[in-house]
Amino acid sequence: MTSPRLPAGPITLAGKRVSRLGLGTMRLTGPGTWGPPRDPATAIRVLREAVHIQGITHLDTADAYGPHTVEELICRALRPYPDRLLIATKVGMVRPGPDLWRPLGRPEYLRAAVEASLRRLASARLDLCYLHRIDPAVPLEDQVGELRQLQVEGKIGHIGLSKVSVGQIRSASTEIHVAAVQNACNQAEPDDPAMDYCRVQDIPYVAYRPLNAGALISAGRAGDMLSWLLDQGDHVAPIPGASSPRHLRDLIAAVRLLEPARPR
Ligand SMILES: NC(=O)c1ccc[n+]([C@@H]2O[C@H](COP(=O)([O-])OP(=O)(O)OC[C@H]3O[C@@H](n4cnc5c(N)ncnc54)[C@H](OP(=O)(O)O)[C@@H]3O)[C@@H](O)[C@H]2O)c1
Repeated sequence: MTSPRLPAGPITLAGKRVSRLGLGTMRLTGPGTWGPPRDPATAIRVLREAVHIQGITHLDTADAYGPHTVEELICRALRPYPDRLLIATKVGMVRPGPDLWRPLGRPEYLRAAVEASLRRLASARLDLCYLHRIDPAVPLEDQVGELRQLQVEGKIGHIGLSKVSVGQIRSASTEIHVAAVQNACNQAEPDDPAMDYCRVQDIPYVAYRPLNAGALISAGRAGDMLSWLLDQGDHVAPIPGASSPRHLRDLIAAVRLLEPARPR
């Protein structure tokens, strides 16, 4: 990693001041985002090191990672959770098999999924819950309406949207307060109109796949890619994924978190 350390954050996300660099946890599974990781102890080390040593206070996960595996790992690794930690999860996607993903946004399914995530994470409330995908087979207002009802019941703190267009953010905003938008963005996929829309609307924009799924890292560009994203605006929070402590440290080496790492 040759880039100088980039100053980053913090950012306010779902009511918490968290590190602008979050950790994506999708890779802490078996191949195809399916089943347990080859070495669960290493996955747990990555999570603990990120939060307790490196000062990362934003973890991004989903019930679909494994499925269920990563939420369970997060609970094993980090409970009792530090107050400063934001765990963002997602519901609304089912997994027929490795590398297979299917949106499912029926309200009764979303409710059951939120309740199952609460149990796996052993939490009373999901800090930030994204609708993983808008299900085209279900009216949008029914999907976000169910999440809003879960928010009223105290089971969800804040609601986010994932992989959405500006039009979809606008439509959902008539039903809910959109607390965050999570879309793919990196130097190879740079043109997302939602990023600018979120800046204008003061909505945090969480950039997933910020390293282009690792494709350009062999060319030594992780620091450049993160730098480019951080330069897009203070509302942009990248969530790179790393499944080894070495990769985690490489990423942290590129970014100087402005909130100091705190002791356990
Ligand atoms: N909302 C959505 O629909 C959605 C979709 C995709 C992803 N996401 C979120 O975004 C997060 C990040 O996305 P992503 O994991 O697909 O892609 P990414 O962050 O762009 O890239 C992750 C890849 O980069 C590799 N890597 C990281 N640091 C490295 C280093 N220093 N040297 C070499 N390789 C390195 C990782 O390898 P190792 O794993 O071997 O460390 C991994 O294969 C996910 O974890 C997930 O939380 C959300």
